[in-house]
Amino acid sequence: MQFFIDTADPAEIKKYWDMGLIDGVTTNPSLASQVGRPFKELVKEIFGIVNGPISLEVLSTDFEGIMREAKSLSLLNANVVVKVPLIPEGLKAVKALSSEGIKTNVTLVFSTSQALLAAKAGATYVSPFLGRLDDIGQDSSLLLEEIVTVMANYDFPTKVLAASIRSSRQVALAALLGADVATIPPAILEKLAQHPLTDKGLEKFLKDYKEAGLEPLV
Ligand code: E4P
Repeated sequence: MQFFIDTADPAEIKKYWDMGLIDGVTTNPSLASQVGRPFKELVKEIFGIVNGPISLEVLSTDFEGIMREAKSLSLLNANVVVKVPLIPEGLKAVKALSSEGIKTNVTLVFSTSQALLAAKAGATYVSPFLGRLDDIGQDSSLLLEEIVTVMANYDFPTKVLAASIRSSRQVALAALLGADVATIPPAILEKLAQHPLTDKGLEKFLKDYKEAGLEPLV
């Protein structure tokens, strides 16, 4: 399973890239707006940090506009994956882009039928938004399970990218259900390693050793 980081902040990206914890990056217009610096500048920095898939989203919603943006974005760097919203014009563009060998990440996916369309269009990644579904009281794990099953049923090469992750449990569920990738916000990446019993246990191991007056082995 691959981990992408879900942020446009180069400092956070560098932190987790240097730790060896992430394989790629996803951004979206909202994430771009949160850093407080020109997005062009951020993207340049991200290219210098990450050697893995970097999703950059188009702003156009019509076929010609999406195609124009997608081609320009893909020329920025070999690692660019063009993020396209799941709308009819977007699917048409994904089909055309895939035949030109341009990688795509179909975003804003909330149903199995939408994911199936993305796969049929030749998307490289399909991104079901788990957290946003849970936010409105739907069980996102059922959606993820269905999408993973559909991709397997027909051997679609499209990778399932679990997005809109809100908790470490959601990352674990994505892994259990067979998502190829989870894109995880920095705050959740931080929490993945944490468990109070780990901290308590380590404290006790070190205390016991010290109190017994034992010498370190090395
Ligand atoms: C990533 O590809 C998505 O844009 C992102 O995970 C959405 O997350 P959100 O629902 O927390 O905004």
